[in-house]
Amino acid sequence: MAVVPGDGAGKEVVPEAVKVLRAVGAGLEFEEYDISADRYLATGVSLDEDTFADLRGADAILFGAVGDPRVDEHYAAGILLRIRFEMDLWANLRPARLYDARLSPLRDEKAREVDLLVVRENTEGVYIGAGGRFKKDTPDEVAIQEDVNTYKGVNRILEDAFRRARREVCMVDKSNAMGFAGGLWQSRWKAVAPAHPEVRARHLYSDACAMELVRDPSQFDVIVTGNLFGDLLSDLSAQLIGGMGIAPSANLNPDTGQGLFEPVHGSAPKLAGRGIVNPVGAILSAGMMLSQLGLEDEAKAVEDAVVATIRDRRCTADIGGELSTSAAGDAVVRNLKGV
Ligand code: IPM
Ligand code: MN
Repeated sequence: MAVVPGDGAGKEVVPEAVKVLRAVGAGLEFEEYDISADRYLATGVSLDEDTFADLRGADAILFGAVGDPRVDEHYAAGILLRIRFEMDLWANLRPARLYDARLSPLRDEKAREVDLLVVRENTEGVYIGAGGRFKKDTPDEVAIQEDVNTYKGVNRILEDAFRRARREVCMVDKSNAMGFAGGLWQSRWKAVAPAHPEVRARHLYSDACAMELVRDPSQFDVIVTGNLFGDLLSDLSAQLIGGMGIAPSANLNPDTGQGLFEPVHGSAPKLAGRGIVNPVGAILSAGMMLSQLGLEDEAKAVEDAVVATIRDRRCTADIGGELSTSAAGDAVVRNLKGV
């Protein structure tokens, strides 16, 4: 198991997730790697080739967050997006499950039954870095960011969404305004959806989906979408279940079984270093890692332990408790039932 705490909040939450993984008793071994802005500033290298070779060879990578106000945004993207792309972790799973009604901003009780999964295409779209800036830094500047969508990439993420659905898949695109990319999504959708008659299939434009998520998130089961819309809709879903501190994610290559597991939040430089960041997003990501490794009982034990701590308010202040990061991790460990 490769462990990459990274920067800021990542350095605080990942040790809590490792603490829980040790306590769950699955006999995992951990190898920790220093990929951080400190190291980058000292050496000029963000992700060295030896480290990357080790990560490529790992069954699973438990990842915190990268990013630091002292370096530009290319630093974080260069690490995280490079791992996602070069390991072909093409499915980004971002579940949102409301563990305690008090964490929901929604007034209607029925609307608070949030238990959905965003299946985000993770290796294409506007994220691939194709484009350029012409007449840079002049009043005539033109910037182009290409949105690249492939038959293979769209087809496999749609199929993956159907494999994970319990009752419905909602495909989200913006084909009314972005006809080329949207056209490919629509044509693969029309081919893939009818092959899964046991699962309901529905389409929403991305703007309507954002609105429906806020109005009544209980209607959703699986939302499948491209890289950028998945980024936006997964932050929105995270807020519906209590905020960025508790949302987990899994970046998977379902063909090889490899994965990188990280909280949806970033390095949170404004909060990091004070022992207040919430370890739950990282702990639930570690739980998703257990499930991917086939350790379903252990994964369930971790999620159940987290739910119990949230319900007793044995958690950090962002979700209504008073505990420090480390005490919140200890509380999860204490709630682990024998597995
Ligand atoms: C995420 C993050 C990344 C993304 C950033 C850091 C490039 O926001 O994992 O959601 O946009 O994918
Ligand atoms: Mn994001």
